[in-house]
Amino acid sequence: MNNKQLISNGMPVYGNERAWQAFEQHLNSQKYSTIFILVDTNTKRKCLPYFLQKSGLQNIEVMVIGAGETNKTIDTCVTVWNELSERGADRNSLLINLGGGVVTDLGGFVACTFRRGIDFINVPTSLLAMVDAAVGGKNGVDLGVLKNQIGIIRPATMVLLDSDFLKTLPTREVLSGLAEMLKHGMITSENYYQKVLKFSINYPETEFDLIWQSVEIKNEVVTEDPLEHGRRKTLNFGHTLGHAIESHWLASKEKSELLHGEAVIIGMILALYISAEEVSFSREKRDEIAQDLVSLYDKIPILEEDRIAIIDLLKYDKKNRNGQVNFVLLRQFGDYEISCKVANTLINDAFDYYSELKKN
Ligand SMILES: NC(=O)c1ccc[n+]([C@@H]2O[C@H](COP(=O)([O-])OP(=O)(O)OC[C@H]3O[C@@H](n4cnc5c(N)ncnc54)[C@H](O)[C@@H]3O)[C@@H](O)[C@H]2O)c1
Ligand SMILES: [Zn+2]
Repeated sequence: MNNKQLISNGMPVYGNERAWQAFEQHLNSQKYSTIFILVDTNTKRKCLPYFLQKSGLQNIEVMVIGAGETNKTIDTCVTVWNELSERGADRNSLLINLGGGVVTDLGGFVACTFRRGIDFINVPTSLLAMVDAAVGGKNGVDLGVLKNQIGIIRPATMVLLDSDFLKTLPTREVLSGLAEMLKHGMITSENYYQKVLKFSINYPETEFDLIWQSVEIKNEVVTEDPLEHGRRKTLNFGHTLGHAIESHWLASKEKSELLHGEAVIIGMILALYISAEEVSFSREKRDEIAQDLVSLYDKIPILEEDRIAIIDLLKYDKKNRNGQVNFVLLRQFGDYEISCKVANTLINDAFDYYSELKKN
């Protein structure tokens, strides 16, 4: 049951024990000149020892970056490119990205651009990276506070998914990753959404099967529409406003940190509100989901001045065409409408709706 594998858009993803076998076979067949591993300060302590034990690797070059979104920058790339160069990387080197989405996004981008591209393997260690960031082939960094503005789509050589890494992941980070799994449910099936609601937050390592189903959902979507002309846009559900909220929080020095999944939860509640007003998502269902989400996640106060700044940030959204902001909306679970134009007044109503929600 825990020995799964699938090919996602040309990129094999392997689960648990199967992952370590596949990794060993790959290294035996490839004969890389040098193996580099990119970690952040947390995954160096919490995940590298387990990785070394499971992989049996000894002679590898470890490169460490700071933890967290504020390090997903081109400056960090320059440091890593320099390290690769100074430590003798060549076109036949391998880069392993061991960490959350920041490490896999940035490491993937560094690998795709160093010497016009070297092989890289993603070993996601956060829930969010397992179900989302590490699969699908999108790599990149932020430009200032603007998310993922610089990047490239290229699949990793392989993805190794071992849920045991989750044993050390803080609960708040587990919830952040769960947001993407809830999104996978909303864009495909209510049945999966309901199962994800019962995810064991305290023992995430036991939830390999649910995690794998999320990978399968992402894989199905990405394989059907690799270049994001249509269905892949549904993976951005809740992200139009979610990313703007995340950027606004990144830009505001006095605000406490808001994680990607936490911003996406707010973005999804807002998008559901708009969906019910614009494309006939059931209001009753919307209220039910909003209640589920505010019971699981803290409510974040969004002030009038925040709203203005967030709405202004929408102009940078990647889905924009000809200056128009495009939303992904849902008619029901798994039934979507892409490229929807939404008036600012409706976005304001959605913020009112969010701020009036009460925890049960
Ligand atoms: N490429 C894509 O398709 C895609 C999709 C979704 C999200 N993303 C990106 O992913 C990023 C968010 O990913 P994230 O939530 O993993 O962030 P992250 O990489 O910052 O990891 C979250 C935190 O958990 C720590 N951590 C990771 N694994 C751990 C473990 N096993 N034990 C203890 N601590 C651990 C990290 O050090 C970090 O402090 C964002 O930049 C987002 O834009 C990319
Ligand atoms: Zn996301």
